[in-house]
Amino acid sequence: MNEINNQIPLGERKKESFRLFDDIAQTYDSLNKVLSFGIDIYWRRQIRKALPKTDSIEILDLATGTADVPIELIKAKNVKRILGLDLSEGMIKVGNEKLKEQKLTDKITLGIGDGCNLPVEDQTWDVATVSFGIRNYPDCFKGLQEMHRVLKPNGRAMVMEFSLPSIWPVRMIYLAYFRYILPFVGNLFSGHGDAYSYLNKTVEDFPYGDEFTSLMTKAGFAKVSARPLTFGIATLYIGDK
Ligand SMILES: C[S@@+](CC[C@H](N)C(=O)[O-])C[C@H]1O[C@@H](n2cnc3c(N)ncnc32)[C@H](O)[C@@H]1O
Repeated sequence: MNEINNQIPLGERKKESFRLFDDIAQTYDSLNKVLSFGIDIYWRRQIRKALPKTDSIEILDLATGTADVPIELIKAKNVKRILGLDLSEGMIKVGNEKLKEQKLTDKITLGIGDGCNLPVEDQTWDVATVSFGIRNYPDCFKGLQEMHRVLKPNGRAMVMEFSLPSIWPVRMIYLAYFRYILPFVGNLFSGHGDAYSYLNKTVEDFPYGDEFTSLMTKAGFAKVSARPLTFGIATLYIGDK
């Protein structure tokens, strides 16, 4: 078990976060559904709806985890193929089992790859997505620059990430759930002493909203937008190259 040491600064811990996902890979999908009350399915659907409408698009999904995003995006008729990359072998293994079960291996491929240093050539993908992954990168700006580098001209980057609700009663209730209930239930049922406490720290530390759209613009993206979902618990950021 790869317990992450609480004494180490968050930025340093993020370098090793994929090891934590190795540990929780087997329970990740079911705990996700329980802890988000199933809303995560709706959030991933919003990424599919925001895809460009052009023909035969090829998508690179980063921090792909157990492949829930590729499985959702391949439902769009204009998507030709998807490559999902992640640093956690455990998450990729679970993802590959799901792809086999759902007979999707001809259209979706998974592999090992660092979002901050992509093993991918310049200007080769129509769309790059990352969902609930970029806040785990040790350097999320580098992650955005890498997305920009691998996109073709006019390509689209889509980032789904947790954010904090701005309306105060909702924010208070959410923070109480997020700081106390979610870490307790998550750590208990994943069998990991620290994973879901780490999750809440990365969310509160993340530069969401205007701060993140500024980073996207600085990384080279144009027409950058942020769409808060479910009272602002999550936000979908979109930018074009
Ligand atoms: C919360 S999961 C999200 C998985 C999936 N995208 C989803 O929506 O369910 C975060 C994922 O980010 C991956 N990850 C963390 N740091 C990474 C990095 N530097 N490069 C690529 N993946 C990374 C973890 O291994 C983990 O699978």
